[in-house]
Amino acid sequence: MKKLAIIVGVAAAGTVGVLVQTLYAAGKADKGGFFGPGVLSADVNLVLQAILVLGLTFGFYLARAGNIAAHRVNQTTWVLVNTVLVALIMAPSLGQVALKSAGDLADTRYWVTWLHASVATFAVVAGLWLVLQMNDILPRRLHITGWKNLMRLTLAAYWVVALLGLAIYKFWYLG
Ligand code: HEM
Repeated sequence: MKKLAIIVGVAAAGTVGVLVQTLYAAGKADKGGFFGPGVLSADVNLVLQAILVLGLTFGFYLARAGNIAAHRVNQTTWVLVNTVLVALIMAPSLGQVALKSAGDLADTRYWVTWLHASVATFAVVAGLWLVLQMNDILPRRLHITGWKNLMRLTLAAYWVVALLGLAIYKFWYLG
């Protein structure tokens, strides 16, 4: 197992998880955020997602520059931080757009959120798969041979998810 990336990644994701849980425990997460229109958990999520997608893109340049050790630590960290944000903030919020009938999807707020959630599910699963494979945790028989293409596709998916996340912020809080 490649230990350094896992240690750094779990520490970063754990820290973010504790901070988010602290906001909820203090009753501040669903109160006004620093941008104004949205709740605090949405603002924190928005800022962290923006940093995260830039961080993953910086990691792409690290790989292209041949610094695979740094790329490994960087990508592992952002994928794990993203997973914590999905589990603690975004997945629970999906209840607010629970579909009562297929007709609900005609509402922009609904379809944009569900499109975001679908692409995000791919990004999280693919990101975690790459992290587990590239850090030698997955058994060899589960390794994906086209991993370089999967990395390109996963980075593109994170970008789509982040941009749809911006759109969600607009439709949920700015009307
Ligand atoms: C977690 C451990 C990871 C390791 C050890 C790893 C390793 C590598 C390696 C060896 C390359 C090839 C560099 C070259 O062409 O010389 C690469 C490229 C790349 N990786 Fe990763 N990677 C990891 C995770 C990820 C993740 C999660 C993503 C996406 C979010 C990602 C995105 C990319 C991209 C976009 C490239 C460039 C492919 C290209 O050449 O066009 N990597 N990575």
